[in-house]
Amino acid sequence: MHSWKQAVARAFDGAEGYDGAAAIQAEVAQRLAQRIGAEPLAPAPRILEIGCGTGLLTAELRRRLPDGRLVASDIAPAMVRRCRARFARAPDLAVVVMDAERPALTPGFDLIASSLAAQWFEDLPGTLARLAALLAPSGLLAVATLGAGTFAEWRAAHAALGLEAATPLYPTRHALAALPFPGCTLAVSVDPLVEAHADGRAFLGALRRIGAGTPGQSGTLSPGAMRRVLRGFEETGARVTYEVVTLFIRRDRQG
Ligand SMILES: C[S@@+](CC[C@H](N)C(=O)[O-])C[C@H]1O[C@@H](n2cnc3c(N)ncnc32)[C@H](O)[C@@H]1O
Repeated sequence: MHSWKQAVARAFDGAEGYDGAAAIQAEVAQRLAQRIGAEPLAPAPRILEIGCGTGLLTAELRRRLPDGRLVASDIAPAMVRRCRARFARAPDLAVVVMDAERPALTPGFDLIASSLAAQWFEDLPGTLARLAALLAPSGLLAVATLGAGTFAEWRAAHAALGLEAATPLYPTRHALAALPFPGCTLAVSVDPLVEAHADGRAFLGALRRIGAGTPGQSGTLSPGAMRRVLRGFEETGARVTYEVVTLFIRRDRQG
């Protein structure tokens, strides 16, 4: 496994406090499942979940699609254990360790769903194309991920001081809408969700508790620079936007 992936998996393995700090993630999972529930799907659909974490979307999918045959997967073994523990009384649910970027599965899924995991992929376009290839004819790949507007306030607090935030850069909604999926139809929607924190350290602490503290390309700041960034961030309200971009990729009936 590459070092970036290992760091991501390790950070999520250590995310003991995930559910207590995952208000936005719970909201996104709930909205995604609601949208999926409004879509036509095959009876007793074969379902694959990608990046299930502790099972927020898993729970919503099980509730809304009770006749679904669901396999949930995640790259982080401890997240898989937490998800299995949440559904200990559901013997019909399989939860497996799998890197979604290298899925070794037989095609034929009626639904592949993922909430807030794809922003961690090293190769987002390639991975989405590989996942779309696992769809049955008329199957749906439903992915909620993060767009470029995410953490705009945190980036602005850095930029005001001539600094660059260490949070990863996310693709624009236009770049996502332009991804090619031969044999499929793509629909994109965008929801900005705003999360308020008591202060800047509370924001950073919440990122760490959910395992999302892995820095992007630009590394970390000196303590003094970080204090100035935190002050600027708090002066504008200690709020962060999550620009949630949802992709619905529907395979044509002809496959
Ligand atoms: C922010 S959590 C979201 C978890 C869950 N879907 C939710 O909504 O609460 C992101 C999850 O994606 C997983 N993940 C990151 N990269 C992955 C990959 N390449 N393959 C599978 N899972 C991955 C992480 O281990 C983590 O559990």
